[in-house]
Amino acid sequence: MKKLIVANWKMNPPTFKEMNFLSLSLKKFLRKNSQILKKIDIVVCPPFLYLPYLKTLEKFKVSLGAQNCYCEEKGAFTGEISPRMLKDFGVKYVILGHSERRNLFQEDDRLINKKIKKALEIKEKVIFCLGEKEKERIEGKTFQVVEHQIKEGLKEISSFQLAKVIFAYEPVWAIGTGRACGIKEAKEVLDYLKKQFPKNPVLYGGSVNSKNAKSYVEVGFDGLLIGGASLLMEEFSQILLDLFSLLN
Ligand code: PGA
Repeated sequence: MKKLIVANWKMNPPTFKEMNFLSLSLKKFLRKNSQILKKIDIVVCPPFLYLPYLKTLEKFKVSLGAQNCYCEEKGAFTGEISPRMLKDFGVKYVILGHSERRNLFQEDDRLINKKIKKALEIKEKVIFCLGEKEKERIEGKTFQVVEHQIKEGLKEISSFQLAKVIFAYEPVWAIGTGRACGIKEAKEVLDYLKKQFPKNPVLYGGSVNSKNAKSYVEVGFDGLLIGGASLLMEEFSQILLDLFSLLN
């Protein structure tokens, strides 16, 4: 199975000009290194506003993903984007349950579950983020937290729909902090998830960079969810090249 690299551009790049530059750099890299696409699937998840401009990435076999969506298909929901709109636009993936949505925008398990259900109903692929806060890890509650997030997030989801779920283990304390999760600790959660969902891909996310990326794939993660490093073309291309050589 191919490895999956999800680039979460978050609220970035800050201007259209910089976004365009990043997109051109990625295309240039892929033009030169198209062989990596035999082993790696790339998904770019930009802010909604940039999606139309990034459609051209599809010619380079890069899929588009969204960083969020609403839990209803249509209706009067000012400011929201429905999964139906994403689907209609050819956006194949959507990140849901990201810790920034949970913690900064008060998205609770119930809302996340509604969003996941709707997105799956529309046949979007859901990148479902899970992970504990630092205090919870220190208190030894990692598995309890992850178990709860799974139970609530995947409520009333059929096994057929479950096939479109990609798990992303992202310890909250590791996201954007430069303190990536230890490989051993991450692998414990990977094993835990694989035991319950042997057929679903499991990604690791949280301060992934060109120095540590390979190690997560080496221990069995099916790919990576990359934030900061996906905005730095040098870092991102190094990660892709390293993974490709590991997989060869
Ligand atoms: P990071 O972000 O790689 O900058 O830690 C991860 C994420 O987007 O969740």
